[in-house]
Amino acid sequence: MNAPTHSNNVALVTGGAGYIGSHMVLALLDAGWTTVVIDNLSTGRRESVPDTAVFVRGDIGDTRTVAATLAEHKPSAVLHFAGSIVVPESVSNPLKYYGNNTCKSRSLIECCVEAGVPSFIFSSTAAVYGNPTKVPISEEEPLAPINPYGTSKLCTEWTLRDTAAASALRYVALRYFNVAGADPAGRTGQCTPEATHLIKVACQAATGKRSHIEIFGEDYPTPDGTCVRDYIHVTDLVDAHLVALNYLAGGGESDVFNCGYGHGYSVREVIDMVREVAGGGLVSRDAPRRAGDPAQLIADSSKLRNRLGWQPRHDNLRTIVKTALAWEQHLLKEKA
Ligand code: UFG
Repeated sequence: MNAPTHSNNVALVTGGAGYIGSHMVLALLDAGWTTVVIDNLSTGRRESVPDTAVFVRGDIGDTRTVAATLAEHKPSAVLHFAGSIVVPESVSNPLKYYGNNTCKSRSLIECCVEAGVPSFIFSSTAAVYGNPTKVPISEEEPLAPINPYGTSKLCTEWTLRDTAAASALRYVALRYFNVAGADPAGRTGQCTPEATHLIKVACQAATGKRSHIEIFGEDYPTPDGTCVRDYIHVTDLVDAHLVALNYLAGGGESDVFNCGYGHGYSVREVIDMVREVAGGGLVSRDAPRRAGDPAQLIADSSKLRNRLGWQPRHDNLRTIVKTALAWEQHLLKEKA
């Protein structure tokens, strides 16, 4: 690969006021990028975007706003985080997911092609694999989503694949496994008020925002009967985007990469870790299985490591939990 050359160091981040997007914005600013955020603030928070970034309040489906933003700032890369992410909601309201994740992404991609954006990084998901036939899951695993969330993201992967074949746009789609934790410097974290994600919910229960946490199913074919997931620290995930940006700038072909550590923890192990880090006070109760949960999801991330040179820095459940808990405590203080 040639040395990476970004035609300029301007990045447009969609969904930059959200959980993962706000971490990305901080990392881009830290790396010297001029960073432009577009976010409709439907779930994101304005205060999560530092004043050193340009902020455009707008919807990625609004072609006039997107085209004007691209024309004004001429980014050499677009990083597309904006979207809807709650799996059960995608089952009850699929049109919202096909609208926000598929149709609006198509519209954004069209604007990018028209504006001549060279590089596009897309937030995809392990949900594109559905119930995997084998674990760890490589990128070669069949694509068989079992919910509209996964399908809505896969449609956008395919839109990018076909568009890249027919235009100058090149892209990387990153398939996230279970993203968790918060900025180690405490500058941002997960704010979603109705969070359903295990580590977030456990931290809310440990800090008194919830009375307890339910363990959804203890009869899975796993060592302790609870589901196993590959939890990746949000800062390492953001690093994967930075190496993907350099890969594309260095002339890399469009491609798809799994983002995870390659090993997992059970729901019980995660809850025990939160209890330990919090110093007790976390009540958990056994509950029935939640619909649509595969027993084990573990990434084979060797492609990301070997081809892009990604080296995780926070592959440690205690660190993930510590940073998530510190952020939860920060939110509590903010409210008080
Ligand atoms: N869980 C509990 N109690 C809770 C919350 C979660 O027991 O209160 C369990 C779940 O049943 C599951 C595990 O913790 O076994 C992890 O659940 P999460 O909701 O944290 O995450 P998922 O694995 O369901 O979802 C993640 C991403 C999705 C992505 C999916 C891929 O958050 O965006 O992986 O399948 F689509």
